Amino acid sequence: MFNAVHLKCKNIWMCLTLAAMLLLFDGLPQVYAFKMTAKLISNHNYPVEEHTVHTNDDYILTMYRIPDSPKLRYHNATVKPVVFLQHGILCASDDWIINGPETSLAYMFADMGYDVWMGNARGNTYSRQHKHKRPDSSDFWNFSWHEIGVYDLTAMLDYVLDETRVGSVHFVAHSQGTTTFFVLMSSMPWYNEKVRTVHLLAPIAFMRNHSFVLSKVGGIFLGYPSFLSMVLAGFELLPTTSVQKLFCEYICSPNSHFKFLCSGILNFIGGWGTRHLNHTLLPHVCETHPAGASTTQIIHYLQLYTSGDFKQFDHGIHLNLKKYNQETPPHYEVSNVKSCVNLYYSNNDYMSAVEDVEYLASLLPCADLYRIPYDDWNHYDFLWSVNVKEMINDRIIEKIEHYEKTHDHLHRM
Ligand SMILES: *[C@@H]1O[C@H](CO)[C@@H](O)[C@H](O)[C@H]1NC(C)=O
Ligand SMILES: *[C@@H]1O[C@H](CO)[C@@H](O)[C@H](O)[C@H]1NC(C)=O
Ligand SMILES: *[C@@H]1O[C@H](CO)[C@@H](O)[C@H](O)[C@H]1NC(C)=O
Ligand SMILES: *[C@@H]1O[C@H](CO)[C@@H](O)[C@H](O)[C@H]1NC(C)=O
Repeated sequence: MFNAVHLKCKNIWMCLTLAAMLLLFDGLPQVYAFKMTAKLISNHNYPVEEHTVHTNDDYILTMYRIPDSPKLRYHNATVKPVVFLQHGILCASDDWIINGPETSLAYMFADMGYDVWMGNARGNTYSRQHKHKRPDSSDFWNFSWHEIGVYDLTAMLDYVLDETRVGSVHFVAHSQGTTTFFVLMSSMPWYNEKVRTVHLLAPIAFMRNHSFVLSKVGGIFLGYPSFLSMVLAGFELLPTTSVQKLFCEYICSPNSHFKFLCSGILNFIGGWGTRHLNHTLLPHVCETHPAGASTTQIIHYLQLYTSGDFKQFDHGIHLNLKKYNQETPPHYEVSNVKSCVNLYYSNNDYMSAVEDVEYLASLLPCADLYRIPYDDWNHYDFLWSVNVKEMINDRIIEKIEHYEKTHDHLHRM
């Protein structure tokens, strides 16, 4: 049935009919067909390694590594500085490479002589495995971004440090990747020593001024423990399907009459009216997103939005007492974050509001704020804008290079 994806549909109605047929006959998403990162990196002529990481609660994650760059002709066999990139919700390692060799953050780092590692959180296209649980059972999806922070990030960071024999990594994350950073560093502060510099794009911790319209509605029904939130938690949310891939090829291509639908979805979620989105890479975005997540992750975010606090999952008084030994979930103490955190944020980001980032910064022991000087810059422009190189990537690399030059020892283990 997968071959059907290669059929070309000639118009929107034929597409819809084909899609309906695929939905009927092709019920289960064949996500393994969409593991694109390794293929894309090879196509871009960079070396790539795939690494499998086991978490303490037995999830099996896939990481990708770009150990070298074809543009570095004379490299020494010394230990390279290591950079670790962590994606956002419904996203994956693809986020850091689909812009192509000139402007993708991962390749830019490789070209500068860094050893580049990209994480994949449990539940996304690359990390749908567990020692005992199957991804088609709801057992598998019983997690939020709290677990991604304390289990996945720890496992991946420790794995990278072990493989590369460096003492600490440079940490870059987008969106939910930043949430998991704050979860980890507040819950297990000794991990602060494992990061050298930290760069958080569109950071999310407090959501008091978050302005996504669906959260206003979702918050009412799911923003606190209720029967509905209990029933809806623990399911798989929006995996990439072959149906969708068919749509991407047709709808997001540059000469499609319907390409406004592709950018429309990103604008609807990330911030309306941006002039920065790179439309050429929309087919790649569409092919690799949404990459899968648990509904519990969304519900947990809605709880942050409704409560205005940054705290653990609210199970309701009864279960909270059992789980946390108190009636309400514990707060994440972001004052435990010891590293100096670079926060990159913008005015038109529906997910990460200016007031929330600045409030977060006021609670951090050390924060360096960079507010994008464009009023229309949205949540996805941090990854996929035409000027992402100049506005974001060059800035991050410059900061890290400065750090490396002023701290020239690599803390070898
Ligand atoms: C390689 O190492 C040598 C000696 O340690 C140094 O002089 C040279 O600049 C290094 N080359 C690069 C590209 O770092
Ligand atoms: C989900 O995991 C928690 C432990 O984190 C456990 O207490 C709970 O019973 C699990 N729920 C389901 C439905 O498996
Ligand atoms: C942000 O949220 C706070 C608390 O809910 C509120 O008092 C404030 O007016 C909001 N600011 C903006 C600019 O909406
Ligand atoms: C836009 O995306 C395309 C396709 O991935 C890429 O080749 C191009 O370099 C990007 N343009 C900019 C300015 O980043």
